[in-house]
Amino acid sequence: MCGIVGYIGNKQALPILVQGLRDLEYRGYDSSGLVILDPEQSRGGGIMQRVRAVGKIDNLVAKLKDAKYPGTLGIAHTRWATHGGVTEENAHPHIAQDGGIAIVHNGIIENYRELKEKLKKDGVKFTSDTDSEVLAHLIAHYYSTPPSIPPPQGEGKAGIRSHSSPLPGSPKSVTAFGVGLRGEDKGGGENQLANAVKSALKEVRGTYGLLVVHADHPDQIIAARLGSPLVIGVAAGEHYIASDVTPMLAYTKQVTFLDDGEVAEISRDNLRISNLKDELITKPTTQIDWDQAKAQKGGYEHFMLKEIMEQPTVFEDAIRGRINMEEGTAVLGGLNISEDQMRDLKRIVIISGGTAYYAGLVGKYAFERLAQIPCEVDFSSEFRYRDPICDKKTLVYAVSQSGETADTIMAVREAKRKGAHVRGIINVVGSTIAREIGAGSYIHAGPEMAVASTKAYTNMVALLLLNAIQLGRLKHVTQATGKRMLESLLAVPAKMNEILAQAEEIKKIAKKYTHYKNLFFLGRGVNYPVALEGSLKLKEISYIHSEGYAGGEMKHGPLALVSDDFPVVAILTRNQLYEKMKSNIMEARARGAKTLIIATEGDQEASEVADDIIFVPKTMELLEPLLNTIPLQLLAYYIAVELGRDVDRPRNLAKSVTVE
Ligand code: F6R
Repeated sequence: MCGIVGYIGNKQALPILVQGLRDLEYRGYDSSGLVILDPEQSRGGGIMQRVRAVGKIDNLVAKLKDAKYPGTLGIAHTRWATHGGVTEENAHPHIAQDGGIAIVHNGIIENYRELKEKLKKDGVKFTSDTDSEVLAHLIAHYYSTPPSIPPPQGEGKAGIRSHSSPLPGSPKSVTAFGVGLRGEDKGGGENQLANAVKSALKEVRGTYGLLVVHADHPDQIIAARLGSPLVIGVAAGEHYIASDVTPMLAYTKQVTFLDDGEVAEISRDNLRISNLKDELITKPTTQIDWDQAKAQKGGYEHFMLKEIMEQPTVFEDAIRGRINMEEGTAVLGGLNISEDQMRDLKRIVIISGGTAYYAGLVGKYAFERLAQIPCEVDFSSEFRYRDPICDKKTLVYAVSQSGETADTIMAVREAKRKGAHVRGIINVVGSTIAREIGAGSYIHAGPEMAVASTKAYTNMVALLLLNAIQLGRLKHVTQATGKRMLESLLAVPAKMNEILAQAEEIKKIAKKYTHYKNLFFLGRGVNYPVALEGSLKLKEISYIHSEGYAGGEMKHGPLALVSDDFPVVAILTRNQLYEKMKSNIMEARARGAKTLIIATEGDQEASEVADDIIFVPKTMELLEPLLNTIPLQLLAYYIAVELGRDVDRPRNLAKSVTVE
């Protein structure tokens, strides 16, 4: 959701920024824009070039053909509208009235109305409806009239020096801005632009991932973060900045993650990080092991199909090194909780959203069955507002692909505040949730670029199962049972491959369901969350209305909707609820519903209740979601392709939901 890219170095910034925006497309956006500074020209009067466009990045690229952009410093943005419609004026970067300062911003400025009114009284004219534009003007205000503040702490530097020349009042044109004299780029309290940013941010309530440039300062980008991620890629004589690591993978694997409350002064050769009080912060760089190829389509038409097909491989990555077959248990490091504390747990709570929530629901079955600890699964967005019951005997799992979901971040903080043990089950290495929790497991699904989550889901389920086995083994589960489960887990990738090999067959079936306006997805027990996930996949990428239901609930109301125009997709694999589920399917068929059944290999009886059938290999009941979800992912995918949808970037959705 919104993407930021920045570059400062010796290469031409434009191609890096444009490619960076493309790399972040998967997050979801509706407009884009960039600003480039030309250092050569800046010295002789300065030039800031801005281009913005509504719609796809190709629209931006088309506009870029009108001029040359030799600059080696720039910032760029993909916007996902929150305040103000999807228009070019509302697209970022926003430029302050003085024409010198440009910003890109992710997040929400909650007190923007109040700040806007104040700025308007000072004569500032706003050109957009966004909350973000306030930041540009506020920073410009402090840049031209720095407040007198006590000398900064930490490095013992002097306070702000007011040495700015008055800047021309208005831009030369929409794309080129002339500015006055070049400022001095100093570190610490002497950095006029950084100080202006800090002063402005002290007045702001809300969240931000922010990049700021000034045409007078062609040697630096200021970055600041509160609640919206920013990563800085470090290479010789250059820095890359982005909302996540994807845009920098082609150039560097050495990154520094900004934390909340930090401000970075980024020049070609230097990186200085401090807080709003100007206390210096020393941070390590982290080596990222994702490679660029993993973030590309690799010959598939869509990221989503590639990611569905990757499931057997990334599943192996998820479980590798985490199995102790001899002891029949899972080996999960970095948990920050002793075995005694684990045995003493009274409650498990899983917090997450969307697909991660459905993975969590599968986890509930596993925790309750194996560890016999009551487990509650809650939407992060609800959990944090309902005064949740959590204490030191509660273990909270935060499950998230991106590790940046705003609701889950806030829910984690609430759980910690209440004294619960918190573990993360996260995909993106170094993401906010992973770092804030500091305990838990990465799911190792690799970069997931399609908005609709697939491989992250299976790996989340894998990690929840491993956690349940580990807890179970500390309580009631025998070594033999643990071992049997682990052996079944090891057999999953081959079984996934068997399902994926039926892709062409599933494509043919999908075509028969393309013209319906409504579908039901039914499951029972551990396959109930599978039905919910299948339904979510379909609605988000095909825009067909679908409902996920527990089979036994149909007769309590939804059955009224069933007709020959409202087909049912049902999971009828051979488990303890087989007969019950079969009855529920027959109830729907008796009312005219066409049925597509997911059944266990060799189960001819299932064909009796099926118009169409997809067979999946047999596995242990608790592991069924790992297999049964895959045909539903493929079904949704092929229906969406058949309907000509933008499969990887469905309308209105964002990959990383960084606003509440
Ligand atoms: C659906 C989907 C979303 C996410 C949800 C949580 O396919 O991708 O429902 O699962 O927004 O995102 P993360 O897992 O990043 O916290």
